[in-house]
Amino acid sequence: MQTVEIMEQTFDSESNDIALYLAMSRKAEEEGHHEIASYLLNVAVDEAQHAAAFAALLGKVKDTRTNLVNMLASEVKAEKDKWKASKIASTEGHEEASQFFEKSMQDERKHKDGLKRVLSKLGKGLNQE
Ligand SMILES: [Fe+2]
Ligand SMILES: [Fe+2]
Repeated sequence: MQTVEIMEQTFDSESNDIALYLAMSRKAEEEGHHEIASYLLNVAVDEAQHAAAFAALLGKVKDTRTNLVNMLASEVKAEKDKWKASKIASTEGHEEASQFFEKSMQDERKHKDGLKRVLSKLGKGLNQE
């Protein structure tokens, strides 16, 4: 029981590290530290591998069709959440955040559409938007 809890926490912290290290890698790149940027990117990829291994150990990874269906549900929600977040950020005067929520909403929509395409290639009808 404790092991599962620790693995869940580890999955979350490894996942957070991926994004943070990627952002730090970009910053190093901006500052002209190309080697450091490249190293931080490698570390981020290692963290992604750790997170992926814990995802599998925790049973978060199913057969591909089920994974695609679960991902699609998640991307549909992400698109809606980003739209709402964009409106809230705009109302509160966070223009840069609002714009980026909107840009990422478009990415979520692309993910949603891409997953639908992949799923339809697998030959199963869908009843999600
Ligand atoms: Fe790690
Ligand atoms: Fe997405």
